Amino acid sequence: MDTQCKEHVTGTKQETEKLWGGRFTGNTDPVMEAFNASIHYDKRMWKADIQGSKAYVSAIHDAGLVTSEEKDVIREGLDKISEEWSANEFEIRPGDEDIHTANERRLKELIGPTAGKLHTGRSRNDQVSTDMRLWLRGALMELKTCVLDLVKVMINRAKSEIDVLMPGYTHLQRAQPIRWSHWLLSYAWMLQRDVERLTELYKRVNVLPLGSGALAGNPFEVNRDFLASDLGFSAISGNSLDAVSDRDFVAEFLFWASMLGVHLSRWAEDLILYCSKEFGFVTLSDAYSTGSSLMPQKKNADSLELIRGKSGRLFGKCSGFMMTLKGIPSTYNKDLQEDKESMFDTYDTLSGILKVSTGVSSTLKIDPDRMRGALSPDMLATDIAYYLVRKGVPFRQAHGLSGACVAMAEKKQCLLPDLSLEDLQSISSHVDSDIADLWNYENSVDQYKAFGGTGKVSVLQQLQKLNTWLEGIP
Ligand code: ARG
Repeated sequence: MDTQCKEHVTGTKQETEKLWGGRFTGNTDPVMEAFNASIHYDKRMWKADIQGSKAYVSAIHDAGLVTSEEKDVIREGLDKISEEWSANEFEIRPGDEDIHTANERRLKELIGPTAGKLHTGRSRNDQVSTDMRLWLRGALMELKTCVLDLVKVMINRAKSEIDVLMPGYTHLQRAQPIRWSHWLLSYAWMLQRDVERLTELYKRVNVLPLGSGALAGNPFEVNRDFLASDLGFSAISGNSLDAVSDRDFVAEFLFWASMLGVHLSRWAEDLILYCSKEFGFVTLSDAYSTGSSLMPQKKNADSLELIRGKSGRLFGKCSGFMMTLKGIPSTYNKDLQEDKESMFDTYDTLSGILKVSTGVSSTLKIDPDRMRGALSPDMLATDIAYYLVRKGVPFRQAHGLSGACVAMAEKKQCLLPDLSLEDLQSISSHVDSDIADLWNYENSVDQYKAFGGTGKVSVLQQLQKLNTWLEGIP
């Protein structure tokens, strides 16, 4: 339909400027206009949008749809738009529904009707997914760096504070003595898995949907291999119907972020407890704490509480978006526009969580004496059982005998090490004078030598493994 005819049909300036205005005779309700618009947030993808368009114009040139001159004019126009965005000079106009329409509208202003050739065979359906994947690729790389920064801080602390012992907890009850480094590294391993998951997720993000058109494909034989290599995608979507509505990569990103959020929320929760007066194991730096407007003595762990709180928000985005996806019929539906706010918000939230976590981690001070002071001999009850096992007593029986020692100490209102050799021998004839070596927390911790345990040897091995893993990351 030529411009003259279109103006005749629509009759208003506003409608003639809409990309899809051809079949419409009435104006859009301004409320609907605002409801429909995504430009306020999807403008964040301006660079990806221009990158995709520059590749696409080359592809349609190779397919014989635009001349070399037209291609150059379009690419130069796109470069000019890019400069405007970079300089924060791009003006969003009232009719700019989304980043795709805004850039194309501007291209037309800059180069005239030739701009209309850029969209040949392309739809915003394959365009938006391409833009999102390009954007998310960059975001994932940044998040990966942030996670690795945090892992490095944990590793460095674990190395320099390896001799610090503390109580290990199950059910939040004092269980067995452990190394503080072992606690630190437990979170480094969670983050290691998060980085591994990110690498997997990246592969599924890095798939080219461009060339799928609105839903049926591209009728102009554009070379999708060229598009993929030009845009750095490592795979090409295999079905256009699927490609225009595939948001698995977004859902997966949201889940990935939620899982990471869960890890850091648990880490934050531990530290919130550890920095309370009751524990007193760690002190947060002033840089990551706040005071109370009423109680002058207070120093609150707001940074950690925000990490814990915001991790809930990450999962909220994930579950909300899964609900958006579950009901949509085949191919593109406008529900999918909900993908971007979840994606951007998750990136922003997680980026903040990670940076603050790294700050908290690298600046907190530990109190090794308080940690050690929280160890108590009853935490060595398991060691009595292991002692008996080493003397040949079956574990189940040894466990019972150790329990009898605990009961005897309770009865005598003394600590386990205060029981006499005779007392202990009255419970088991396997007890010898070497039982005295048991009442030593270092010995207790260091018996866990098997890889993955809290013994110094195995914590050093963990450090080595994690360092080797870090070195292997591209
Ligand atoms: N702004 C839209 C989105 O984010 C772009 C795709 C629009 N496609 C359409 N058929 N209306 O999903």
